[in-house]
Amino acid sequence: MADHTTTARVLVASNRGPVSFGSADDGTLTVKRGGGGLVSGLSAIEDPHSVWVCAALGPADREAVRRSPHGRLDRGGFDVGGHAVRMLDIDPADFDLAYNGVANSTLWFLHHLLYATPTAPAFDAAAAEQWRAFERYNTAFAEALAAEAAEGAAVMVQDYHLTLVPALLRELRPDLRIGYFLHIPWAPADYFRMLPDELAVAVLTGVLGADHAGFHTRRWAEAFADCCEQVLGAEVDRSDRTRLTVEHQGRTTRLGVHALGADADFLRERAHRADVEERLDHLRAAVGDRRTIVRVDRTEPSKNILRGLQAYRHLLRSRPEWRERVVHIAFAYPSRQDLAEYRDYTAAVQRISREITEEFATDSWQPLILQVEDDFARSLAAYRMADVALVNPIRDGMNLVAKEVPVVSEAGCALVLSREAGAYAELAEDALGINPFDVVGTAEALHRALTMSPAERTERTKRLAAAATALSPQQWFLAQLAELSS
Ligand code: G6P
Repeated sequence: MADHTTTARVLVASNRGPVSFGSADDGTLTVKRGGGGLVSGLSAIEDPHSVWVCAALGPADREAVRRSPHGRLDRGGFDVGGHAVRMLDIDPADFDLAYNGVANSTLWFLHHLLYATPTAPAFDAAAAEQWRAFERYNTAFAEALAAEAAEGAAVMVQDYHLTLVPALLRELRPDLRIGYFLHIPWAPADYFRMLPDELAVAVLTGVLGADHAGFHTRRWAEAFADCCEQVLGAEVDRSDRTRLTVEHQGRTTRLGVHALGADADFLRERAHRADVEERLDHLRAAVGDRRTIVRVDRTEPSKNILRGLQAYRHLLRSRPEWRERVVHIAFAYPSRQDLAEYRDYTAAVQRISREITEEFATDSWQPLILQVEDDFARSLAAYRMADVALVNPIRDGMNLVAKEVPVVSEAGCALVLSREAGAYAELAEDALGINPFDVVGTAEALHRALTMSPAERTERTKRLAAAATALSPQQWFLAQLAELSS
């Protein structure tokens, strides 16, 4: 099976890798290292023979792959952060159909319950073509993993993009121990069954190729198990409180709950660097002595930014005492701008923001600061000064912003949190829970948060921070790895 090396004992596979490339005018490639839970988690592995398999996402990534033997960036002379990285140059047309068509427009919409069902989804001939590309894209990952993995190695497959990989890989390499982790929610069975039967079966049996499948919450694991029962007729054992098992066609897959926590050490150090201090000065100058309601999201329809802004508008209309006394800081960073739904959503966010400014701004007060350019240092500055954080997704696998704010907050921050976010499972007691569709209810929760006493806010924030950091990214990763040895 091996095409050049089979020394890897631990492998990770994800669509987006730990590095991405840009190209300068003179043709040189610049490397940018990414962050996030997976990058931190993998840092716990000291084995020099671990390999991360990911896809090239753009032309500069593809060029880097071409300059690297077998797509192994670490052998192409690139500094990719100490780990071996194999980047796959998947045919760009296939990649587009698989990533934009299936992963982001179908599976993402399905699991986040985002379809406006009178018109979508419609599984037509174009959708069938997207699905075939998705199969080829997943096959490319399975083949690369099969080629890199040593006998009996542990392979940790990540997320909805690679939902078919566990089964495809097991077919190629029955000796491997395969783990899967889903970072987003799982749809309830009635909703999941919108997928054509053949696709529904492929998605479920794809995941069941793993020995262990991890989810952020029990709720998402249960939803997956329900789908296995109803669509496949699989046997589900729910007797253990900490784990479920699914038996299908003679194989058993264990389902585990692994709630990724915030990376406290990293955040606390990063939040006090000079670039954050500089942005904090700017924000403080803009806000003055007013209260702040902070939100930070990628601009995705699932994040519910529109209803959040409607709730803020309702607060200012229904409780005029807050006018001139509060500023809403909303950072809505670009995401997946290749998709029309995302571009339209961004435009709608900007529209309602203008309306709020027009309705309420005075010579001495800007009610809303909306920023759409990505700036992590500025987000940390906003976390530090927030009086209230608003995290109101329609549905979210976890939502790390809800966990990061309490860790970084200086004076304590009241957290208004959607009960549909995975993070709610751990933070419910000290957050102010909301139904994300209830605009009036959200406005009321914002009012309660703004009027919470400083002492209560501080106490709640301490407990929130403890819950938010209960499972560090490193522990999260190692716990799943340990599941593969049992
Ligand atoms: C969100 C989800 C992750 C997912 C990521 C992909 O952050 O929570 O589960 O992997 O989106 O984003 P991308 O920008 O790579 O499409």
